Amino acid sequence: MAESDPISQPPPRVPQHVAIIMDGNGRWAEQRGISRNEGHKQGLESLRAAVRGANDLGIQWLTLYAFSLENWSRPKSEVESLMGLLEHYLETEIDEVMEKGIELRCIGRTDRLPPRIRDGVAAAVERTRGNREMHLIFALSYGGRAEIVDAARKLLRDAELGNVDPERLDEKMFAAYLYDPEVPDPDLLIRTGAESRVSNFLLWQIAYSEIYTTEIMWPDFREADLERAVQEYQSRERRFGLTSAQVSGRRGAKA
Ligand code: FPP
Repeated sequence: MAESDPISQPPPRVPQHVAIIMDGNGRWAEQRGISRNEGHKQGLESLRAAVRGANDLGIQWLTLYAFSLENWSRPKSEVESLMGLLEHYLETEIDEVMEKGIELRCIGRTDRLPPRIRDGVAAAVERTRGNREMHLIFALSYGGRAEIVDAARKLLRDAELGNVDPERLDEKMFAAYLYDPEVPDPDLLIRTGAESRVSNFLLWQIAYSEIYTTEIMWPDFREADLERAVQEYQSRERRFGLTSAQVSGRRGAKA
């Protein structure tokens, strides 16, 4: 996280970190009388478009909720189809990702992924490590509560070893135990698919994120829709728990 006080800064024109709950593949497919897997296939096109769009807009961090821990309970054929799409994406897109200078990262309980997929993800993460143009984070086998539990487990182990003094624990220290502490909190959380819930996504990190929901089903989501979400974000005032007058006063004092 940046050391400077976020409130005293004018809101950046472009959000630094956008996180997306890509919802609606299944309903999009059902509306067309085709299989849910076809919906996910089209969803992959939207994923590609979101990466392109974010890169074009100058968004530095993009986190995509690609597969939740709860998704493991879907029918086996659907899980296999989603894994196949992920593998396909990694195989077909990695060269372009490299060319664009995008770094791939992954958060979640990835030990649950089938070994082939896990290895493919690890190889892509390794190959793109250090790219700085943009960071693309896949939340895979991910759950927000699980992330907090996993962080607590690591913290308790460190405390047992005497490396952490429980009395000195604060939010910053705790956040260092999350899956990827280098990632700044999302400025903007987008959810497609006409639902308004956070579905166990980045529960710790979205404390002050602006939330944008849209009726658009994920397979129809394109660059222009991302741009619209960013425009809406730019019109918001982020107060971080303060009053409007306080926020503008602090900005004025810094100017
Ligand atoms: C939600 O649609 C979407 C997902 C379960 C995952 C997102 C998947 C993709 C974008 C396809 C590419 C896949 C990977 C893993 C890279 P839903 O099935 O929950 O839609 P519904 O709410 O309409 O049923």
